[in-house]
Amino acid sequence: MLVRLLYCSRAVDTSAQAVEAILAQARQHNPVSGITGILCYGDGIFLQCIEGGRMQVSELYGTIRPTSATATSPCCTSKRSPSGASAAGRWGR
Ligand SMILES: Cc1cc2nc3c(=O)[nH]c(=O)nc-3n(C[C@H](O)[C@H](O)[C@H](O)COP(=O)(O)O)c2cc1C
Repeated sequence: MLVRLLYCSRAVDTSAQAVEAILAQARQHNPVSGITGILCYGDGIFLQCIEGGRMQVSELYGTIRPTSATATSPCCTSKRSPSGASAAGRWGR
């Protein structure tokens, strides 16, 4: 089943280098896992929407949670909903 997850979080490292690294990681990893989405950043806050298989989205979200050096602290409730078709298209476009 295709699911869509929307959340926002506060960046721990707000440097341009750190944000670019996250974007590069997403562009490399997400297509391999069949995940599409958007990642927005401004004023220390990320807004991300990811779509893909339930397991793949859960696994990815697990890595984004505050467990590592690039961790974020969630600042709004995440929303996970079944998705009939991809709304985001190809990642990075
Ligand atoms: C807000 C945010 C969004 C991220 N989005 C993605 C993503 O879409 N795809 C991905 O592969 N990694 C993404 N990452 C990066 C992974 O979560 C990263 O591998 C993880 O934070 C582990 O970092 P570490 O190398 O410091 O252990 C994101 C990280 C953050 C903080």
